[in-house]
Amino acid sequence: MATQPSSDRGVWSGKLGFVLAAAGSAIGLGNIWRFPYMASEGGGGIFVLVYLICVLAIGIPVLFAELSIGRATERNPVGAFKALAPGTLWPAVGGMGVLAGFGILAFYSVIAGWTVGYLWMALTGDFGPGVTAEQSAQMFTDLIGSPGPALLLTAFFLAVTAGVVRGGIAQGIERAAKVLMPVLLFVLIVLLVRAVTLPGGLDGVSYFLKPDLSELTPTVLVTALGQALFSMSLGMGAMITYGSYFPRDQSLPFAGTTVALADMGIALLAGLVIFPALFSAGMDPQGGPGLVFVVLPTVFANMPAGGLWAVLFFGCLAIAALTSTISLLEVVVAYFVDERGWSRNKAAISVAAACFLLAVPSALSQGASAWLTEFGWLDIQNIIWGNYGLSVGALLICLFVGFKWGPEKMLEYVELGGNRVPGRGVLAFVIRYVCPLAIATVLAFIIITGQYF
Ligand code: TRP
Repeated sequence: MATQPSSDRGVWSGKLGFVLAAAGSAIGLGNIWRFPYMASEGGGGIFVLVYLICVLAIGIPVLFAELSIGRATERNPVGAFKALAPGTLWPAVGGMGVLAGFGILAFYSVIAGWTVGYLWMALTGDFGPGVTAEQSAQMFTDLIGSPGPALLLTAFFLAVTAGVVRGGIAQGIERAAKVLMPVLLFVLIVLLVRAVTLPGGLDGVSYFLKPDLSELTPTVLVTALGQALFSMSLGMGAMITYGSYFPRDQSLPFAGTTVALADMGIALLAGLVIFPALFSAGMDPQGGPGLVFVVLPTVFANMPAGGLWAVLFFGCLAIAALTSTISLLEVVVAYFVDERGWSRNKAAISVAAACFLLAVPSALSQGASAWLTEFGWLDIQNIIWGNYGLSVGALLICLFVGFKWGPEKMLEYVELGGNRVPGRGVLAFVIRYVCPLAIATVLAFIIITGQYF
């Protein structure tokens, strides 16, 4: 067996390269846009509590399941299942993952386009003192409701993503991931301090942190589960692909856990910025997909040099979104390169172009087209791919590792190049019984109660 993944596929420059790239994949709009938006629909604190349980009890085990499959096979999700279970239906799970990646990318790039629009607005001085909650809401509606800008920004974002993915693994992805993540963290901390000290800000903190058990519904369960998976880039094979580039002679457990905790930390930070600001501005917690974009300008309005912070924030957010879209596109591209023999160049460009077509209705569903808006196309894409697609994917991955491949194999590849995992028996038990049962129960609840959305 080779000591490194074969060099023509590429390999991370080391553990740090992996942590940065995987954290780059995990940390993105999922933490800063989707998490507060889902939390506001899920009743605040109760959603946050279920989300945290899902990250620890399901997210982290599934993360290691995916990474170990990637490490064992050095393949894209489809090839990985083919290698481990030839002649079975399991490769279809990889296929579903590739499809889910495509579906997620198609609405994700629309939101990512908004961040670029906001960066542009910040650069031209639209944010800063004096912006009221009403003006902020109007700016948002104007940007996303005009078909021209909405489509152009989406196309731009997909084009940049394809440009990076064409360049190959080590150079393209790592370079993008390394630079701006620490800056994003710093800006979020500054915004947090400002938001919680705004008048009425503490009401937002208690909304966000105090669970109200009476608000627990099947929808909250599936949304929180979906959010945990979405935020950690799980359930569709992205981490299989990323694990496949992990150097064989380095230790994985610590690196993987770091990625999970960093992702969770950024989401919590984002919530602690958004909800205090929202309550302070007297807005409605049912903010919809515009939540972050509408709320944050009211924070910048109350800060010295608010316009500058806005530039920094939206600049970093756009980069965080880019390192995530890269990972989404990478999964689909790796499939066409490995399984279909396409060149990286051809795969990156044609997949991104096809993705744009699926993104068009999402981009037009925020005011530009009346019936797509009424239909709620973007929200539905978000729920179908993000909540259901990833939950079903994660369930199947757990069943695969638990009953087909075997938890022992998973542990072997988690431990490859490093020490034995403490509590390895627990991890094996959790991946085999706890995760699949929990996910299946949540999905069964949804089917029985019919509360799909
Ligand atoms: N995790 C990313 C975020 O939070 C989005 C993302 C990137 C993703 N790759 C993924 C989600 C794969 C699910 C699966 O923004």
